[in-house]
Formats: sequence, structure tokens, C-alpha cells
Amino acid sequence: MTRRILVTGVTSGLGAATAHALARAGAEVLLAGRNPTKLEQTRTDLVRALGPVTDDRTFPLVVVDLADLTSVRRAAAEVARLGPLDVLVNNAGVMALGPERSVDGFDLQMVTNHFAPFALTGLLLPTLIASGDARVVAVSSQIHRLARQAPVHDPRVPRLPHRPWRVYAESKLANLLFTRELERRAREAGLPLRALAAHPGRTSTGLLGGATHAGPRGIGAVLVRAFGTLGQSAEDGAAATVMAATADLPGGSYVGPSGPLEMRGLPHLVQPARAAQDDYAADRLWQVSEAATGVSYP
Ligand SMILES: NC(=O)c1ccc[n+]([C@@H]2O[C@H](COP(=O)([O-])OP(=O)(O)OC[C@H]3O[C@@H](n4cnc5c(N)ncnc54)[C@H](OP(=O)(O)O)[C@@H]3O)[C@@H](O)[C@H]2O)c1
Repeated sequence: MTRRILVTGVTSGLGAATAHALARAGAEVLLAGRNPTKLEQTRTDLVRALGPVTDDRTFPLVVVDLADLTSVRRAAAEVARLGPLDVLVNNAGVMALGPERSVDGFDLQMVTNHFAPFALTGLLLPTLIASGDARVVAVSSQIHRLARQAPVHDPRVPRLPHRPWRVYAESKLANLLFTRELERRAREAGLPLRALAAHPGRTSTGLLGGATHAGPRGIGAVLVRAFGTLGQSAEDGAAATVMAATADLPGGSYVGPSGPLEMRGLPHLVQPARAAQDDYAADRLWQVSEAATGVSYP
């Protein structure tokens, strides 16, 4: 049976590479992004790269702006109408943004990277479970190791001073804590769903283009230079996500590159930081996420 896999953020970088790899492996990939014109182009590029498709795959487009929870609700309803979903890959993300707020009043970076994916996953849970063997894959980052604490404060209340890299690190820690808690709850409820996570090491993509507050000095500048010039290709970076989405792995697995410092190389199982294995923080973040997004998991 053709696996149906929704990937967010397919319009560039790792998301595009993930969509291509999954489509090459025979999946019906639902292409999700915020920009309809870019999405059309992504599908055109995908179909051209695949060559003639002899089955009935259509690569549906799903317009979703993760900076707008109304858009997330609309997209989830649209996806639910298309039928059961085997895998949700929460790939889309932004890095080191300024203090901008989303239309719902959230920190823009935090809602895009954690709260909207939390809401999308919760809204799609019945659609995922209907597949009988579902997965949810989070795309985290080695930068989660720099986070001192989980983002368990109300995301609608600005934290001053605004520290772009702290927010990014905490959002990527949130991806791992969400995965841990979703996996725990799925096991406890006996749901046919596994939660896994992956990270791409250091990959050259457009992510830095959005890092409006990377700063000329300090950690921002170091990371910008490192990611921009030394990164592996998007295809190689996406391999960890593809492994988490398709390989025979238990729930809770975390996949990353096998090279030095997990920066590049073939994907294998890796260990997250201790902060990402904190059950109390995972539960707290879940409560905060439900309250902030208004999405309660069934
Ligand atoms: N590159 C790395 O080295 C690296 C390392 C660790 C983790 N990651 C993670 O990998 C993921 C993908 O990043 P990337 O490197 O591929 O960056 P990218 O090339 O900038 O791609 C980001 C994608 O997210 C989409 N996106 C951003 N804001 C959105 C929103 N509000 N609603 C819907 N989609 C939105 C973008 O859409 P538009 O095209 O419309 O902007 C784009 O498709 C992120 O979660 C990032 O944290 C990357």
C-alpha cells in the first residue's frame, strides 16, 4: 500500500529534499507550505525529478501558515478530508528571528517551530491513527543542547530582552520533549502511533536567510558561518528525517548524522541532551502547549 506522508516546509532546503526522497521511495507525499506559488513550483520540480509516475499519486498541496493557528486548523481539516495519514513530518522551521509576534500574539519563532506543529499534530491525530500504523517525526537540531530550560512560560507573553538564539535552542528542545511526551502518551493509550525525532547535523539551506537577528558577533556569527559554508547537502541532511519516517525503528528513536559531533554523515541512532529526557518538563510543556494553542489531544 502506498504510504501517505505529509511533510511541512517542502518549499526549500531539507523539506524539499525529504519530499523528493520519500516520493522516490514510492510514498504519496502531501506537500505542505505557506506559499501557494512556491508549493506549485515544488510539485512541478518533484514530478519532473521523478519522471513519469505510473501509479495514482498526485502529490496534493496543503497550504498552511504555521504562524497562524487559524490556518493550521483549516489545513488539518483539509488533510483529514483526504483520508488516513501514515506519517506527519514536522520539518518547517525558522531560526534566530527578531521579536516579531504571530497573528495570534505568539513569539513568531516559537509558534512556527513548536506550538503550531503541536497543534497540527493534535488536530491530525485521528487522521493518523486511522492509518493503523502512524508516525510523527519532529525535526530538531544539535542546537537543542544549548537550551538551559524548556519553554514552559506562556508564549503569548514577550520575554525581555529578546534573545533569538535562546528562543531557537528552546524551540528545538521543545521538539524533542514533545516527541517524548507524545510517544509516552501513545504507548499509555495503546495507540498505533510512534513519535520519533531526527536532526540533520549542519546542512546548507535557506534557514540562515531568515536569521534576521543572527548578530555580527558571538554565537550567532559563528553558527551562521559554520552552517553557511561547511554544511552538508540538503539531500544528505534529509537522510536522518527519511530514516525516522521510514526505517523499522521503535517509537522515541532519535536519528542524526554519524560523523564527528553529529554534523554530517550517514544517519544512525543518536542520544539527545539530558534536558530532552526530562519527563517533568515534557509534561509541563504539553500542558502549556494545550493551553496556549487551544488544541487538546483526544
Ligand atoms: N539547515 C540546518 O543545518 C538545520 C540544522 C538543524 C535543524 N534544522 C531544522 O530543519 C528544518 C528545516 O530547515 P531548513 O534548513 O531546510 O530551512 P529552510 O531552507 O529555510 O526551510 C524552511 C522551510 O520552512 C518553511 N516555513 C517557515 N516558516 C513557515 C511558516 N510560518 N509556515 C509554513 N512553513 C514555514 C519555509 O517556507 P518558505 O519557503 O515559504 O519560507 C521553508 O519551506 C527546520 O526545522 C530547522 O530548524 C536545520
